[in-house]
Amino acid sequence: MEFEYETEVLIVGTGPAGGATGALLASYGVPNMMINRYRWLANTPRAHITNQRTMEVLRDLGRSVEDEAYLHATEQELMGNNVFCESLAGEELGRMRSWGTHPDSMAEHLLSSPCRMNDLPQTFMEPILFKTACSRGSAARMSTEYLSHEQDGDGVTTTCRDRLSGREFLIRSKYLVGADGGNSAVAEHLGLPFEGKMGVGGSMNILFRADLSHLVAHRPSVLYWVMQPGADVGGIGMGLVRMVRPWNEWLIVWGYDINEPAPDVTPEFAQGVARQLVGDPDLEIELLSANVWTVNDMFATHMQKDRVFIMGDAAHRHPPSNGLGSNTSIQDGFNLAWKLAAVLKGQAGPGLLDSYSEERAPVARQIVTRANKSIGEFGPIFEALGMDGGVDPEKIQQNMSARADASEAGEAQRAALRKAIELKSYEFDCHGVEMNQRYASGAVVTDGQPEPAFDRDPELHYQPTTWPGARLPHVWIFDRAGRKLSTLDICGHGRFTLLTGIGGDGWVAAAKQIADELGIPLGAHVIGPRRDYEDHTGDWARAREIRDSGCVLVRPDHHVAWRSDILGGDPAQELRRVLTSILNR
Ligand code: FDA
Repeated sequence: MEFEYETEVLIVGTGPAGGATGALLASYGVPNMMINRYRWLANTPRAHITNQRTMEVLRDLGRSVEDEAYLHATEQELMGNNVFCESLAGEELGRMRSWGTHPDSMAEHLLSSPCRMNDLPQTFMEPILFKTACSRGSAARMSTEYLSHEQDGDGVTTTCRDRLSGREFLIRSKYLVGADGGNSAVAEHLGLPFEGKMGVGGSMNILFRADLSHLVAHRPSVLYWVMQPGADVGGIGMGLVRMVRPWNEWLIVWGYDINEPAPDVTPEFAQGVARQLVGDPDLEIELLSANVWTVNDMFATHMQKDRVFIMGDAAHRHPPSNGLGSNTSIQDGFNLAWKLAAVLKGQAGPGLLDSYSEERAPVARQIVTRANKSIGEFGPIFEALGMDGGVDPEKIQQNMSARADASEAGEAQRAALRKAIELKSYEFDCHGVEMNQRYASGAVVTDGQPEPAFDRDPELHYQPTTWPGARLPHVWIFDRAGRKLSTLDICGHGRFTLLTGIGGDGWVAAAKQIADELGIPLGAHVIGPRRDYEDHTGDWARAREIRDSGCVLVRPDHHVAWRSDILGGDPAQELRRVLTSILNR
């Protein structure tokens, strides 16, 4: 067979991982092709919680991309009353302010990022990424199924099937990215090492329309957890009514016993479940779709084999808890895309690509572990409500009701329930897990300082640092016209950036020299009085952890590559040493 198409990077999948990677590569000017076995983008709203770090990737793609996401998203302030109840119409058991809407957490969110968390269903996110990719030059081929690949010293030959005609054909690329989801054939063909287990629980999604405003207007939220006797079967442990569009489109997630055959979710069954969880026996729903899926607990411990990479659910397979799946998938793309671009443009040696797995495999482990742990952390709520002792519905109802008793036991039960709900911050307000990623790899050069310890719980709280490997702290700075910009805004966009202050002009000259010498895009900015950017509030001076004449070198994905406390004797030599090491030159 002849090659039908040639491209630099072939991406299997147009989900959040593949779409983001296509959009980023196209923005960096790298020819790429995305293929999707189906003729549609996401047709159910699966992922929705969109965290600040993901929004920073969209912002890096352009303010219009970020703004389009906000345009379609449900705003953060409508996300936060995480309700535990007997049914939407029934008694409320407890509530926690979530997703950064508690005033304390909101302050942390506002200080951490120029971007806002929001609720953006996958049915909106995928078209935004796909359109951005295609409008910037990605080739896309729908109804095109990846079948197999072979790699050699120069590239990868991938066999595909055109699902419209049934015809098989070949695509030749320099690199192949498997962004083909939780049943990734690319990962399987690579024989990459995985830890964990697939299919640890069964769940079904029931997507429907019904105006439920009267039940939720006073407590707007993304998630309503329904705890009823008998509802704790497999899956994610209880019935979940999730807002898809406020307040007339909903997704019910309901568990089934994974040891039994998957149920046939008929319209009658779906209506029955909806009536039960909403608590309205006369509710009429407009059923949009229903499907079953399995809960997984598995991650790749290595995400690359020579010229082929995996990302997204192909590498990390876990339940929706914490809303990390699509977010992490997009962030995988942000990590890999600039490295592929640098290698393909001859700016870096292929060794740079090894840092992708070094940096992202630990994240895969972390988020799969966290998401599965979050499921287990519903246990104390069941215990506190007395739902864990047997299956007799009457007895369970009595136990749940006992929390209203004027007795020692009742008081203890109320305290236990409050504590159990508080523990769920690790799922519903877990800012540190979203923002604290610190990389250790060949694409980071240490400045000899020890890693700063976390002052507070690193899962719950983000702690900014310019320690090499961490994400550059966001603070607002001001340009010469007085306009407010984030430190992240003056970095990224596919290039390295050096930030320095008064007395650091030697770094700026050195950056220009080394950029010319190595043929790489490398920006340099002085932040200080009368310079490129002003630090009127002093926030940058407090965040940067270096002296005025020092520098922070930032990678295209906003992570700190290296830093220096002060201007040294030979800044060009220092930058040459650091960049040739990172770029594997
Ligand atoms: P994804 O599975 O989305 O895409 C795979 C792509 O590869 C598709 O385009 C597919 O057609 C294509 N493909 C597969 N095999 C192929 C082949 N052989 N040839 C060609 N194409 C092929 N996440 C999150 O961040 N926040 C959240 O709130 C939630 N909530 C949530 C709720 C529910 C109910 C579910 C089920 C899941 C979530 N998630 C989530 C998880 C999220 O949906 C998931 O992590 C992402 O879709 C993963 O994105 P990927 O791009 O990796 O794979």
